[in-house]
Amino acid sequence: MTAEIPNPRGLPIVGNALQLPVEGTHQFLADLAARNPGGIFKLNLAGRHVVFVYDPDLVAEVCDESRFVKPIDPPLAHVRDFAGDGLFTARQDEPVWGQAHRILLPAFSQRSMKAYFPQMLEVADKLVAHWSARGAVDVTDDMTRLTLDTITLAGFGQTFDSFDQAELHPFLQAMGRALTEAMNRTRQLPMVTGLKKKADAAYQADIAVMQETVDEVIRTRRTSGVKANDLLGLMLDAADPVTGEKLSDENIRNQVLTFLIAGHETTSGTLSFALHLLLRNPHVLAQAYAEVDRMLPGDTVPTYETIMKLDVIPRILDETLRLLSPIPFIGLASREAGTLGGRYEIPARQKIAVLLRPLHTSSAWDDPEAFDIDRWLPEAKAGHHPHGYKPFGNGERACIGRQFALTEARLALALILQRFAIADPDGHQLHIKQTLTIKPEDFRLRIRPRQEHE
Ligand code: HEM
Repeated sequence: MTAEIPNPRGLPIVGNALQLPVEGTHQFLADLAARNPGGIFKLNLAGRHVVFVYDPDLVAEVCDESRFVKPIDPPLAHVRDFAGDGLFTARQDEPVWGQAHRILLPAFSQRSMKAYFPQMLEVADKLVAHWSARGAVDVTDDMTRLTLDTITLAGFGQTFDSFDQAELHPFLQAMGRALTEAMNRTRQLPMVTGLKKKADAAYQADIAVMQETVDEVIRTRRTSGVKANDLLGLMLDAADPVTGEKLSDENIRNQVLTFLIAGHETTSGTLSFALHLLLRNPHVLAQAYAEVDRMLPGDTVPTYETIMKLDVIPRILDETLRLLSPIPFIGLASREAGTLGGRYEIPARQKIAVLLRPLHTSSAWDDPEAFDIDRWLPEAKAGHHPHGYKPFGNGERACIGRQFALTEARLALALILQRFAIADPDGHQLHIKQTLTIKPEDFRLRIRPRQEHE
């Protein structure tokens, strides 16, 4: 027996497009998911039909890579305006995706994480120095400084010195505006986008700023003559073990830009959300303090080995990524016509969006809204639905930087908690800013050095 996929009533021609709010799309979709407990609904966005899934069994189906593939549709098709055929926005059938994936994979091995650790520590120490001189801090901006400087130093051997600048780096400002414009274009008919000449001029100018930053990073490495085994070194010198081909100059530019964006935006959101959730859950914060006091007493300098032995902090990050995943959805498309859940018929090339927060809080989880880090204890993990948690995406197109992000985030959280007592006396109300990712907006913290007061 076939069934209709639930579809909220829309208007003729535009369908549900005008219901989709400009701000807070993720919340609108999460509310719709709550009203459709079957774990699936569809929207007609001015003729673009998208099926949203969040039931773990249905998600298991769409994560079958023999049936579904990552498409480069809007908004990613617009991000491709500046990230080109870099890993994140390359089409699966472009040979350069496989070449770059194979060339860059060694840069994300456990051995590489250990090699990057001194650079990660160098930047995390700058955050500590910056915070030590202040009583109140802008968390999201400083996490952005931290993660941007970490990927540039560890990945490309260069630094933007973000903590020495009052304003965020021009690259970040241009990137923020360009991502917002890419999202705006997703909601516009192409004809409307074509008429907005001023917006287009600003968009092109922002893309130029980002590309100039990237060209400077590549030029600096090339003229230095340094041969390093980091991300940039592999991009410039390594050959694909399968085809023997090296990456073209244009593709290297796209990869560097991709890593500058993908390599910091999500990790900074995760760290900001983690601090927000810790303040809402003081008993977990106390556990985290107890862990750093045990593993990193006094001013002990963290080593890679100590960071890898942490237990509470990694579980805080896992649970943060469950409740507040910085990437709100992952896009897929059916390779052929078929059915979902044995009853929902879908055509070939059907666009699918896996909604991460509704998936991560589905009824497959016990007490899904609770911030409970014990669900990440090994014995509890064994009972998780195998497709109930996807903060890093799926299959071949899953996040290549996962270990990098988790190592960097563990270290940053450990150092922050080793050095500072954190508080938000005004009770921060979570406001979320959404571009391609989500992050807390206007999140300020009160901090004081721990050792002096305890
Ligand atoms: C892809 C999440 C950190 C580089 C992805 C995807 C997700 C994700 C969900 C798949 C997107 C899709 O299917 O369209 C995250 C989260 C992070 C994080 C939650 C932090 C907590 C990083 C870092 C790097 C990175 C630190 C680089 C150092 C990439 C790249 C891709 C990707 C290059 C594209 C992979 C491909 O398609 O081959 N990430 N990411 N990410 N991520 Fe991450």
